[in-house]
Amino acid sequence: MIVKLSVMNEVNVNKRIVLGISGGIAAYKSCELVRLLKKAGHQVNVIMTQAATDFVSPTTFQALSGEPVCLDTYDASSGNGMAHINLSRQADVMLIAPASANTLAKIAHGTADNLLTTLVAARTCPLAVAPAMNVQMWNNPANQRNLDLLRRDQVTILGPVIGEQACGEVGSGRMLEASQLADLLTDVWTPSLLEGKRILITAGATFEAIDPVRGITNISSGQMGIALARACRAVGASVSFIYGQLQTEIPVGLAYREQASSGDAMYAAVHRLIKQQDVFISVAAVADYKVKNRSEQKLKKQDNQVVPMIELTENKDILASVARLPDAPFCVGFAAESEHVLEYARAKRQKKGVALMVANQVDQAMGKSTNQVILLDDEQEIALPQMSKDDTAAAIVKRLVQLLHTSV
Ligand SMILES: Cc1cc2nc3c(=O)[nH]c(=O)nc-3n(C[C@H](O)[C@H](O)[C@H](O)COP(=O)(O)O)c2cc1C
Repeated sequence: MIVKLSVMNEVNVNKRIVLGISGGIAAYKSCELVRLLKKAGHQVNVIMTQAATDFVSPTTFQALSGEPVCLDTYDASSGNGMAHINLSRQADVMLIAPASANTLAKIAHGTADNLLTTLVAARTCPLAVAPAMNVQMWNNPANQRNLDLLRRDQVTILGPVIGEQACGEVGSGRMLEASQLADLLTDVWTPSLLEGKRILITAGATFEAIDPVRGITNISSGQMGIALARACRAVGASVSFIYGQLQTEIPVGLAYREQASSGDAMYAAVHRLIKQQDVFISVAAVADYKVKNRSEQKLKKQDNQVVPMIELTENKDILASVARLPDAPFCVGFAAESEHVLEYARAKRQKKGVALMVANQVDQAMGKSTNQVILLDDEQEIALPQMSKDDTAAAIVKRLVQLLHTSV
């Protein structure tokens, strides 16, 4: 019997976020960050240091957040005059982006000499910082010492990345992009239920070459695999990601990523990494068949109208081969069917020996941003409602967590 489930995605519930802006060029990126966090349904209260107001006007942040921007510790407009206590008590999470070298130094040592640093000292919620600075400032031993102190105090450090800097130099110290920060911030409030687990995910469409310029592929966008990578990362897993053709950006914060375009390349990459994995999630739409008579040269149109014949041969079944390993990781498979979805998914799960199978109808899933799936395992079959791929991924991970805990 299939159980119908209504699902709430804890990862995407609305939060009250205190966003601290300190004095750095990257403050302009935080305008977009506020917009994205608001769009995701969160409440955002912006606190700016004096230096930050030299880079972006508080009016911009007020307009984007829909909330007054706090600038000074002694703000008489805040009820009892204790904005630092009031704001920190209401917050679910605090993020400082950009975090200047100066502000990082202050909070590492507990200095509380402006509203932002006082709030950090008075907070009860988790704190994340997104450093942004010139490469020399980043590498400065004093700055690195401060970061070590912050890590020891359980502060989450988001980024920075290596890249071109506003000063023209290239190196580490560039703040993550707004969309990457908005994505990573969800991890801060998501319980680390799979902390220390290593999960290998394949995603996207494979490409089987016919000749140097043509090939056989499919309409998989890779969105489901990417959503699963983010959902696994959010619960603390170390995610390795092998991908074919993708139509979406790969998220930040993954332990390893590698492109493997063809079925053969994906098989080899998976088997190279599989020994270190606790879980294998096979989401990639791997071609069942590859071209047997692949041409080394581009096929030319013939004058005599002879149509080239493409001969196919079977690709190796990556999921089945992993599930068959003597010390196989916990396997999660996907069954995309155009008809008899449940029947085919049950048969596929049995045949391949997969612990958790996710069944979906191709026209409701492939290339789309939503999905409607049925989860099949030894204990139950659960039909999830149609929802975003992020929410579907969160529900799959929730079931994965339950099954992993009962299987140990
Ligand atoms: C044009 C300009 C750009 C700056 N960019 C940065 C930066 O990206 N990162 C940083 O740590 N400091 C940067 N600074 C220096 C800080 O603004 C300065 O250390 C300030 O005291 C930081 O104060 P706050 O931490 O209270 O915001 C910059 C200064 C100027 C004039």
